[in-house]
Amino acid sequence: MTVEPISQRRFFFRQAKKDGFAARSVYKLEEINQRDRLIRKGSIILDLGCAPGSWLQYAAKQVGPNGRIVGVDPTPVTVSLPSHVHVIQGDMYALHPDEIRKWAPDGFHLVMSDAAPKTTGIPFADHARSVELARRSLELAIALLRPGGSWLAKVFQGEDLPPLRDEARKRFRKFMERKPKSSRDRSVEVFLVGIGFGRPTE
Ligand SMILES: C[S@@+](CC[C@H](N)C(=O)[O-])C[C@H]1O[C@@H](n2cnc3c(N)ncnc32)[C@H](O)[C@@H]1O
Repeated sequence: MTVEPISQRRFFFRQAKKDGFAARSVYKLEEINQRDRLIRKGSIILDLGCAPGSWLQYAAKQVGPNGRIVGVDPTPVTVSLPSHVHVIQGDMYALHPDEIRKWAPDGFHLVMSDAAPKTTGIPFADHARSVELARRSLELAIALLRPGGSWLAKVFQGEDLPPLRDEARKRFRKFMERKPKSSRDRSVEVFLVGIGFGRPTE
């Protein structure tokens, strides 16, 4: 009998179900975090595009009860989460930074975004909207991070990416791109990582 190999996507979907996570996206965050150590005990984190909630579940555990996580998504999050996680059901373009700042008056340690547009099947349109979401997450990071803080954003690769990359590079001491193993080989998504938020450099 030959056993059909299961697709990578299906493998991580099943694994997430087994591990009690709301989505397979959790393994991308886990892999990046294990490498870049973005999340620490007590961290205060803003999670943009947080539904259905696997990043919230993972981060909640990593920060522990002395940390805090604020999630934002227009889609409701229905998984059960500990009390140090607060979800705002809303659109990140419509939210003013002041509405979020009250959750972290001294600034966030990490602003992360796994936000993705509803795909249209038109690659350039999907790419452009994904870059806009990542750009908005950078704007919010600039407004809300504490000095030394970090930024993580998913984006679909394409021709609008280099200007965003250049903008981000100026704001962080270290800037990297990560392509986690759990992100499908064929997927155009990459994750931008900025560490050491500070004044812009020319
Ligand atoms: C891939 S899912 C995120 C998965 C999530 N990280 C998890 O682990 O469960 C992408 C999310 O981005 C959200 N999104 C898209 N546009 C958004 C916007 N303007 N503001 C906030 N969230 C948005 C979508 O509603 C969707 O829930």
